[in-house]
Amino acid sequence: MSSSRREFLKKATAVGAGAFATGIIPSRLVNDAVAQGKTVAIASANGVQAVTRAMELIRSGADALDAVIAGVNIVENDPNDTSVGYGGLPNELGVVELDAAVMHGPTHRAGAVASLRNIKNPSKVARVLLERTDHVLLVGEGALQFAKAHGFKEEDLLTDLARDEWLRWKENLSTKDDWLPPHDENSKDIGGLFEPFFRNTGTIHCSAIDQKGNISCVTTTSGLAYKIPGRVGDSPIIGAGLYVDNQVGAAGSTGRGEANLINCSCVMIVEYMRQGKSPEQACLEVCKRIVDNNKMRRLKFDDGRPNFNVKFYAVNNKGGYGSCCIYEGGEFAVHDGTSAKYVPSAYLYAKHPQLR
Ligand code: GLY
Repeated sequence: MSSSRREFLKKATAVGAGAFATGIIPSRLVNDAVAQGKTVAIASANGVQAVTRAMELIRSGADALDAVIAGVNIVENDPNDTSVGYGGLPNELGVVELDAAVMHGPTHRAGAVASLRNIKNPSKVARVLLERTDHVLLVGEGALQFAKAHGFKEEDLLTDLARDEWLRWKENLSTKDDWLPPHDENSKDIGGLFEPFFRNTGTIHCSAIDQKGNISCVTTTSGLAYKIPGRVGDSPIIGAGLYVDNQVGAAGSTGRGEANLINCSCVMIVEYMRQGKSPEQACLEVCKRIVDNNKMRRLKFDDGRPNFNVKFYAVNNKGGYGSCCIYEGGEFAVHDGTSAKYVPSAYLYAKHPQLR
């Protein structure tokens, strides 16, 4: 075992020696050494097709920004991915609202849209905003009008699959309202949820390095399922749900957006990489920071650990990459120029007994 790996494991174990037991299986610790100068595309676990497409384009000479957007468009268009784009789970009123941001390393420009209705590729709208305005973020009706001005077509994004999921949520929300799930004369206590209920915060993030060594990234999502209309998560917020510094690397996130908004998570990951940490170590540091800053009892299990998860993905400017989640069980998609594969993410804590 190398001394840096020993040192990392020692530090990682020390985290768990405090209040909580910690299990850490670092997925990759030596990428910086092995990946010098390589093209790479990394994404959340729902992004294996995205990294494959991104790498095809990079190999044909495309800019990393074009590559990552084309990659995530596949997932935005997929009706079976209920966390992104068309078919994403709706807000509490049953209306799909999408968030996305893009960031271009070489020019350090960004574009983002939030609470965008009826347009299935918010990442493309974010890209037009980057190229053709002086703004970085448009929301709601303004974002929709901007998209329409640029020829994006409005369509109903709510699929039957997502509507059924939303109805199940609404009918099981409370015993104190009039929406009920299907029941019969023997049903008792219907309409309320009697077990911890974890809301969907699926998202896709993709970062890539192109043949010129330039880095860009995108994050796109339908956000927290059944959110209050107008809720904006971390995905369209530069520094929270994604960030790139072309001299250092890029980072992105999926999971509880509120935790990333109040910890500026992705800019922190890039700053940790600037200080010399590997992508995986940098992601781990921010997981620890989120846990340290999680003060609210309602956001903790009985043992004090967070009752939510956050997942990070990072690449550095040498082609090194890594990922870390607060809880065990995560994985990510990567294309290292040879093939696309799933890789287990490192984690701060072993799976929590109260997590399904
Ligand atoms: N991370 C996605 C969201 O919270 O909206």
